[in-house]
Amino acid sequence: MAKTISVKDDQTGKAWKFPVLEGTAGPDVVDIRKFYAETDMFTYDPGFTSTGSCESKITFIDGDKGILMHRGYPIEDLAEKCNFEEVAYLLLFGELPTEKQYKQFERDITYHTMLHEQFHNFYSGFRRDGHPMAIMCGVVGALSAFYHDSLDINNPDHRRISTYRLIAKMPTIAAWAYKYSLGQPFIYPRNDLTYAENFLYMMFATPCEDYEVNPVLAKAMDRILILHADHEQNASTSTVRLAGSSGANPFACIAAGIASLWGPAHGGANEAVLTMLREIGDKKRIPEFVKRAKDKNDNFRLMGFGHRVYKNYDPRARIMSRTCAEVLNELKIKNNPLLDIAMELERIALEDDYFIEKKLYPNVDFYSGIIFQAMGIPVTMFTALFALARTTGWVAQWQEMIEDPQQKIGRPRQLYTGQTKRKFVPMKSRK
Ligand code: CMC
Repeated sequence: MAKTISVKDDQTGKAWKFPVLEGTAGPDVVDIRKFYAETDMFTYDPGFTSTGSCESKITFIDGDKGILMHRGYPIEDLAEKCNFEEVAYLLLFGELPTEKQYKQFERDITYHTMLHEQFHNFYSGFRRDGHPMAIMCGVVGALSAFYHDSLDINNPDHRRISTYRLIAKMPTIAAWAYKYSLGQPFIYPRNDLTYAENFLYMMFATPCEDYEVNPVLAKAMDRILILHADHEQNASTSTVRLAGSSGANPFACIAAGIASLWGPAHGGANEAVLTMLREIGDKKRIPEFVKRAKDKNDNFRLMGFGHRVYKNYDPRARIMSRTCAEVLNELKIKNNPLLDIAMELERIALEDDYFIEKKLYPNVDFYSGIIFQAMGIPVTMFTALFALARTTGWVAQWQEMIEDPQQKIGRPRQLYTGQTKRKFVPMKSRK
């Protein structure tokens, strides 16, 4: 028998039944699409803590057990056994690619990595000290002014080309934001390099000498991209879906996602973690910061700690901490004071009753900044890197939404607590 749930108005005694839908994993959901029509009431869930906003087949998270899977594959397997391009294909098309599919996909992405030459003018309009995320929002939004030939969202070929363009151009856009801040010439992508290698090459090469991408660092970058590629219906992905639900073009939607990711509660946390570790400065000061994080009257939080969904160790953080050790080892960095502070902070927080009770564990952003810093990537670029990796997830989720026959424009309602109707007062009579 199909599952239902009953809702009763205790004052009038009226009762309604709503269907309960079962997914393939995770909690059931109450289907409240007819709730307003039948009860004349809205549901109230600011922050969407109990709301499933869509049906999706892409990513599954079990926050209590610390499980993350893409298309059914655990993140640990993908991070260890695949490269980023394979994971991107998996997110977009639902299956891991065969060798033939992989070669074709790699070619499709590689041949879209260049930016229109006029983007040089676009970049030079920014201040040199502009934040890379500000530049990313602007440049990605502007893509729709350059690539009009793929803007028809109802045409599957257009959708595919836009998707490839976004994934392919994002490393170029991010690396050029960095080059622009330095005043160095832009470095063009190279078709013989992998996605991760190409990004590092465009970041660190100059026209003056040969630049060899370090394979250990390229592997680490590839893994970091995999770990950030998608994460279910988080704030930026929901932003992309909501923007896309109105029929906006994909470049505009991804620019909206970048804006949402920028905040310190979301992707901006990797930058905030490093700023925090620098501010702590010495292991001796950790208790002082932990005390502040627990103080209700202080809005300081331990950045890189806690997650809306994970009430257990974030599986990405575990892989990230291993990757961090590999990178520091490769770069022969024996003493990294920030890593020492991070490890001690993690140890102290994980033994503290406040963090234990609230189930606050390190998240993906806790160690990523230390790796980026060791690689020579400046702090302001950290969130831009997150955006570059998450673009694949965003476009996969956007495509899924457009292809969903149930798709409607997203239009939440509200609990209105403002003034009710009142008499207009002319200015002269206002007090
Ligand atoms: N340090 C200290 N206390 C915290 C922290 C923290 N990092 N995170 C949550 N809390 C406390 C919070 O004060 C609240 O306490 P109380 O119940 O007494 O009011 C309780 O834990 C629940 O927090 P919340 O803010 O209601 O939880 P949320 O699900 O709305 O927020 C979060 C999740 C990630 C925004 C939050 O944990 C946070 O601000 N963390 C720091 C920023 C961060 O690292 N963000 C990266 C998230 S992972 C990358 C990504 O996918 O974006």
